[in-house]
Amino acid sequence: MYDYNTINVDMNEDIAIVRFSRLKALNALNHEMTLELAELFDKLENDPAVRGIILTGEGRAFMAGADISEMKERDAEGGREFARVSNYAFSRVADISKPTIAAVNGFALGGGLELSLCCDWRIAAESASFAAPEVTLGIIPSGGGTQRLPRLIGSGRAKELIFTGKRIKAAEAERIGLVNKVVPDEALMDEAVKSMREALANSAVALGYAKEAIDTGIGLSLADGIKVEINSVGMVFGSEDRLEGVSAFLEKRKAVFRDK
Ligand code: COA
Repeated sequence: MYDYNTINVDMNEDIAIVRFSRLKALNALNHEMTLELAELFDKLENDPAVRGIILTGEGRAFMAGADISEMKERDAEGGREFARVSNYAFSRVADISKPTIAAVNGFALGGGLELSLCCDWRIAAESASFAAPEVTLGIIPSGGGTQRLPRLIGSGRAKELIFTGKRIKAAEAERIGLVNKVVPDEALMDEAVKSMREALANSAVALGYAKEAIDTGIGLSLADGIKVEINSVGMVFGSEDRLEGVSAFLEKRKAVFRDK
């Protein structure tokens, strides 16, 4: 079902482990991988066997950015098209209703950094590193980085990274709030699965509404965001999982949510 040239997918029970796999180019995101990523996330959204998704890279990179060899021939219109297609694919990742974790195992540069920002949270191996090096190539981030990075770490820190292109280590990424946690390299996937399982122990319906409320609200005023939350609460109160979760607490038993 998940058969791609540039991406491998394994199931760990109900968690899809998505591995970028273009080893010869440190998993650089070329056009083929961009299209495969978009198609994959459409399928993952609609696969009831998948409840959570972990993204990682094979070899020594998470993703070393967009494939620079595909950039030379592009003119202004070609550049716009490149950013449009990149953002189309990255939005499929950001907008999926199921929880996502980036397990960052090595270089997360340019598009790799941007893709990690499309995930709900990030866990990094000690040897991981992050950068937005686009300006060193005379371009700028084109996978949502100018928008998502300042929203996550604030405009001052985002501008420092984007203007200097400097590479930071995992510990610094954790200090500035870019990653949630840094773990020894060999513990990365176990930690990511453990973290995902903590979320998946809860109602998938509730997780979906919480994700939607956070992601919609972040671009709105606080007052409008609160309205989104109020409507989401109304929707979640209509779910069987709410009835089960509340009943289980009152009956002093463990909840069995509908989708498990
Ligand atoms: N696009 C295309 N190819 C890339 C790539 C990219 N973004 N990043 C790495 N590669 C290729 C290299 O060209 C090299 O190919 P080769 O073996 O055919 O020469 C191979 O991956 C290994 O990379 P190499 O540079 O030899 O490894 P390194 O350990 O010395 O350096 C990096 C690793 C990540 C620091 C370096 O490859 C790099 O700076 N890459 C570009 C990162 C970048 O600017 N990304 C943003 C693009 S917008």
